[in-house]
Amino acid sequence: MLEGKKIVLCVAGGIAAYKVVEVASKLRQRGAEVHVIMTREAKEFVTELTFREITGQPVASDMFAPVAHFNVEHIALANLADAVLIAPATANVIAKAACGIADDMMTTTLLATRAPIFFAPSMNSNMLTNDVTQENIKKLTARGWHLIEPASGHLACGTSGKGRLPEPMELVETIDEFFSAEKTLVGKNVLVTAAGTREPIDPVRYIGNRSSGRMGYSIAQEAVARGANVTLVSGLSALSVPRGLSEFISVETAAEMRSAVLERFSKADIVIKAAAVADYRAKVVAENKIKKNDDEWTLTLEKNPDILKELGQKKKAGQILVGFAAETQHLLENAKTKLEKKNLDFIVANDVTKPNAGFNTETNLIKILSRDGSIEEFPLMKKRDLAAKILDRVESIMK
Ligand code: PMT
Repeated sequence: MLEGKKIVLCVAGGIAAYKVVEVASKLRQRGAEVHVIMTREAKEFVTELTFREITGQPVASDMFAPVAHFNVEHIALANLADAVLIAPATANVIAKAACGIADDMMTTTLLATRAPIFFAPSMNSNMLTNDVTQENIKKLTARGWHLIEPASGHLACGTSGKGRLPEPMELVETIDEFFSAEKTLVGKNVLVTAAGTREPIDPVRYIGNRSSGRMGYSIAQEAVARGANVTLVSGLSALSVPRGLSEFISVETAAEMRSAVLERFSKADIVIKAAAVADYRAKVVAENKIKKNDDEWTLTLEKNPDILKELGQKKKAGQILVGFAAETQHLLENAKTKLEKKNLDFIVANDVTKPNAGFNTETNLIKILSRDGSIEEFPLMKKRDLAAKILDRVESIMK
């Protein structure tokens, strides 16, 4: 998918710059034409010569050097780019871009380009988690920049935590994925829920379920790849936040998920509720840890709001609402009842008793039940591939 694509690779001054040599090499091996821009600081870590040899293209760095390309150099690079990748995206470059500062070749190009921009923050954990950096990252993602989440692990500064540049292959795959999916959902706002809610009983215990979030995260990833503005509302999950989201909201309880979803519902064109929401919560949450005094313990539960049903009642013409049904018996009957009661456009039914299907698996076995009574059955497939099937169905309704 990268064949013939022109990628402007912005290398800022961080130790991870050495890894980006491999990124440039792999992009080129996949057929991309790679144009590197380096900051002055980046050249302290890797030489221009290295990138020139690897890419077969001149490296842009100095605003006032004789031009290597037609036109004014930063404008030429801004215009020729099919995509821009900033790696490592240092706190400094992120901050300058967030404020619109254009004081060198890289930042002027970033301001001038209309190409999609991917940025891979890489820095010390404290710098990354500093409010100012987080605010700047949010500003950029709100403007449609695609965030490539930093990895966690050993950092060059000797500490350990979040802030590592992801492996070169991951950066290359991100760009490749972007070009491989057809951009069929550009301009659409997609709201996805994923993972399980946790309902507290006391400060140490909760009612939860086995959802890993993988099904919902896969749908969010596929929607991003199709060009949508994707908001993911997620219960607790060990998965990394998918790349390129417009917004990620982490929630714990069904009540929190309800607020987050309802707040964003009116702007959503498509809502897909893959989350496993607890139907009940403790009527009273104990302030202190409940002691084991008696042989038996009775816990009184009360019903949680049914978020999907509420959305079904509020749904406006043109909005598409998709639910899931996790069943252990009477799959089709139960799913059909939910489809109707919750006023869905279609429901994805998964029999969670089947091996390698349902909760906490890489794969799933689903049937899609539609309002016209049709049932489409899929073999055991990877959740990411099923996400594509689900979005294909959404798109066929939109037509
Ligand atoms: O996360 P994974 O490990 O990848 O697992 C995927 C999955 C099995 C969780 C997923 O495929 C799935 O089936 N999600 C829905 C699970 C579920 O809660 O099903 P349900 O039949 O109880 O709920 C029906 C629908 O109503 C769901 O869309 C659910 O999000 C929604 N719901 C349920 C209860 C509630 N109080 N509010 C809701 O909105």
